[in-house]
Amino acid sequence: MILCHTVKELAQAVSQAKAEGNSIGFIPTMGALHEGHLSLVRAAQANQNFTIVSVFVNPLQFGEKDDFNSYPRTLGVDARLLTDAGVDVLFAPNLAEVFPADLDLAEPVPGSIAEKFEGEFRPGHFAGMLKVVSRLFDLVAPDYAYFGEKDAQQLALVKQMVSEQITAGRREPMRVVSCPTIRDEHGLALSSRNSRLSEAEILISRSLQQALLAGASAGKKREQILSAAKAQLSAEARLEYLELVDPQSFEVVEQLPAGGGLLIIAAWVGDVRLIDNLLIGG
Ligand code: PAJ
Repeated sequence: MILCHTVKELAQAVSQAKAEGNSIGFIPTMGALHEGHLSLVRAAQANQNFTIVSVFVNPLQFGEKDDFNSYPRTLGVDARLLTDAGVDVLFAPNLAEVFPADLDLAEPVPGSIAEKFEGEFRPGHFAGMLKVVSRLFDLVAPDYAYFGEKDAQQLALVKQMVSEQITAGRREPMRVVSCPTIRDEHGLALSSRNSRLSEAEILISRSLQQALLAGASAGKKREQILSAAKAQLSAEARLEYLELVDPQSFEVVEQLPAGGGLLIIAAWVGDVRLIDNLLIGG
């Protein structure tokens, strides 16, 4: 595996891989890697790509300084995991490489999906996320980029941004590939932030998926689904939102749509914010 810290080193690795006729598969991450991230790596490799992973904790997408400062940083372990997984390039830049002071970047405008749910509770998060993803796509110019369904709104917004940029002629054609959520043996969706949960908090956190599953078998009406879900959520989890939405538009739906509805949840457990979702009735 080639470890690149600078844009220049990355550009060299990318142009060599392209000159050799490879397609590029890219997985942007913020590190503290787990099986969820590695499942994206495997999806890229299964598609015969030259595989590039970035690890960059993007300050622009964090609202609270605390969360940014306490976000786990484990680059040494990450590099080992990615080497073992057979990744071709790890791009681990610093802030000045990603956002140099003289960079003139067209800021992606997040669509209406960005105002709801995650966007409402984390103002500025999606604008910061899209800005870094667009910048990383400029640097890597991938043919395929792999994203997890766990961050469903992020995935929808990245897809939308990429399709607008391609249509406007500002980006070469590329595909955003969605990958299923990886969970531990108790159903808790893997997340880098889980490492900050105590054992007692892990037990509480499991109730998020239990809530989603209860909602999934509670009929077709929003009201029934939400109340069945709520009943399974631990009283110690502090709910931010629990909602049934259209999987494309994230508009609230009163009944399960024909293609299924997305049941989405965000809750605090201790000082860790968790999100999860489940496509139901599809
Ligand atoms: P991060 O939280 O590190 O996630 C990187 C990628 O891994 C995202 O596409 C995310 O959806 C996916 N992922 C995380 N947990 C997963 C799980 N349990 N199962 C499957 N996929 C999972 O998301 C970000 O970083 C950042 O916002 C980023 C896109 C890198 C921009 O800074």
